[in-house]
Amino acid sequence: MELPMVDVSLLSQDSNEKSIVIKQIQEACQTWGAFHVINHGVSEAVIQAAMEVNRNFFDLPEMMKKEILELGSRDMFSPVKLLTFQRSARGSDLLQRDLVRLYANPFEDFIDFWPTEPADYREKMGRYTKDVRKLGITLFGAIMESLNLGPTHLQENFDKGMHMVIANSYSPPTPESSIKIGVAPHSDHGIITILLQSSPGLEVLDMADGKWKALPCPEGSLQVLVGDHLELLSNGIYKSVFHRATLSTRTTRMSLASFHNFELDEVVEPATELTAEDCPKRYEGCSTRDLIKDIYSGEVGRLIDRLKI
Ligand code: OGA
Ligand code: NI
Repeated sequence: MELPMVDVSLLSQDSNEKSIVIKQIQEACQTWGAFHVINHGVSEAVIQAAMEVNRNFFDLPEMMKKEILELGSRDMFSPVKLLTFQRSARGSDLLQRDLVRLYANPFEDFIDFWPTEPADYREKMGRYTKDVRKLGITLFGAIMESLNLGPTHLQENFDKGMHMVIANSYSPPTPESSIKIGVAPHSDHGIITILLQSSPGLEVLDMADGKWKALPCPEGSLQVLVGDHLELLSNGIYKSVFHRATLSTRTTRMSLASFHNFELDEVVEPATELTAEDCPKRYEGCSTRDLIKDIYSGEVGRLIDRLKI
């Protein structure tokens, strides 16, 4: 599958090149709801260090992990959470993965909740989340420009927004286990997700033919996915991408998914600039909190679809 490879470094050039990249982003968001980014400003060393501390975290004895993170809380908005997550979508298997979910913006509000073991966890994940947030802000500006909304549209609101990072670990099940490992089909709730994969495994639904296509992770690249809130903000011009992940190797697969959002309770509406008499508002507004709550609510279908007018 030939997703566009967006060279982020060209966005800081005030030239033709920038507009070519914006056009590339526009096409990718319309056609696929996803694209690759390279020269994205998150260095290989920072990436490797973040992967390593998460791998080491998951390798800790179960008891120790539970002590490190407060497990008891079932609050979906607790600042940090460790869980084995099982989920199925209609017509698909129950799939399981282990995950640590961290909040990462404003950084100072949340760092004290992060794991203290491995000892370098906070430092190395801190660097990664800060760099990937910077990338998220750059991409947000470019995406707003690609919608002809201007590069500073809602920028201040987005800068203050919620950044949630999930470290996923997909470990091969024991031969006698009937558990299947992976993530069931879903779309992400936020504006964009920036995904780092240790090995391939992600598949996206091709909107053109309704088939699942493997989305590779070329060396040095990160994958960007359009989320539900961007679909809503763009009044449906961009569509959030359905994706799933499976484990096809006998070694553990890891991924770091960075979800970039507005503040939890900010109600996002379709941009008025993208509505007109012949193109009315297509969605009711909703907040990030509404979208996240819905994931855990047991409701059939996605909130974004129920908000359609
Ligand atoms: C997610 C997700 C895919 C992957 O965490 O929302 O879709 O490859 N992860 O881990
Ligand atoms: Ni996802």
